Amino acid sequence: MPTDAKPFPLKGDRPPRTILVCQNKACRKSGSKAVLTAFQNHKIPEIPVIGSGCLGHCGNGPMVLVLPDEIWYRRVRAEEAIEIMNRWAIDS
Ligand code: FES
Repeated sequence: MPTDAKPFPLKGDRPPRTILVCQNKACRKSGSKAVLTAFQNHKIPEIPVIGSGCLGHCGNGPMVLVLPDEIWYRRVRAEEAIEIMNRWAIDS
């Protein structure tokens, strides 16, 4: 009989690392579009970079969140994208 059941990570498995760059209003006003572009220009294949909705820290934008580590970066400048990507590429 067919099933709709989906696999889920077993205890100890980690979902793949992903970088979220907020693209909501407040972060956009602070330059998050350029930050997202910088991350995408220095993209590493194993680490997806995604423009996200509001991450809930609007006064500190542009906000960047690294998952599943839940490491936050605030007031990120486009020129910092390379350093942040390299840090996580080494660590992934
Ligand atoms: S608008 Fe970016 S964290 Fe809310």
